[in-house]
Amino acid sequence: MAKLIGGLGTSHVPSIGAAIDKGLRDTPDWKPFFDGYIPGQDWVKEHKPDVAVVIFNDHGNSFFLDKVPTFAVGCAEEYRPVDEGWGPRAIPPFRGAVDFSWHFIDTLIENRFDPMICQEIEVDHGIQVPMELFWGRPAEWPVRVVPIFVNVIQYPIPLPSRCYEMGRVLRRAIENYPTDERFVVLGTGGLSHQLQGARAGFVNPEADRAFLNDIATDPDKLARMSREQYVEMFGSEGAELMMWLVMRGAMDRDVVVRHKHYFVPASMTGAGMIVMENEKTPSPAVAA
Ligand code: DHB
Ligand code: FE
Repeated sequence: MAKLIGGLGTSHVPSIGAAIDKGLRDTPDWKPFFDGYIPGQDWVKEHKPDVAVVIFNDHGNSFFLDKVPTFAVGCAEEYRPVDEGWGPRAIPPFRGAVDFSWHFIDTLIENRFDPMICQEIEVDHGIQVPMELFWGRPAEWPVRVVPIFVNVIQYPIPLPSRCYEMGRVLRRAIENYPTDERFVVLGTGGLSHQLQGARAGFVNPEADRAFLNDIATDPDKLARMSREQYVEMFGSEGAELMMWLVMRGAMDRDVVVRHKHYFVPASMTGAGMIVMENEKTPSPAVAA
């Protein structure tokens, strides 16, 4: 059966991708941020996952406000990176894990989740940036991806507890999947930021640091919080953080934190990263 070998979390700020495109990685502004991801990149190189399930929100690129699914799952052969208006980026398309996607969608339906099914869709910085942060800039991505879209843009957005529950269903789908593939799950978005309105520019480093602790040690607390509490604590766009609960819900109750990093501000955002493994079944490294 397939195996979940780790849960990763990261911010997905678009200017991180722009910094890579412009060769700014080692400038004084960006180097401390990017250096924080080196252990995460090493973990991925060492553990060599076959499939990455990436939970993210589309930012008005593939869905607009006229039609927004609460939850959507991709089941395409390939996901092209969306051009978000600055021209095409030099990153390869993402290869899909089509068979697993259908298996997951079926498992969701059996567990009373009813996602939108996407056989053809492009993906924006919500997935591009996390993939670059953990896998760098390969000529071809060494993992196949399963994109899960969560609406955290057009109110009403889903409950944090519902995201957590979806993660549990994801875990079941992975463990019932009859291959020996190694899966990682990535929660993306956040941490605190607000890009609009009276609180534009709001960040909350104290709450961000507490979140990076709680996501490992007390995820139930984070799942019990209301949507309003997410907005209040992390900002209107910081409510993206509830997507990390899908990743966390797929993990065991007890996890080991392998790596963690926090940097503020990246653009207008408190930027965080975490790498977790299940405490009882740590993932063996794979020989090169
Ligand atoms: C920023 C952060 C995001 O998560 C996003 O989706 C867009 C912009 C920012 O800080 O600039
Ligand atoms: Fe975002």
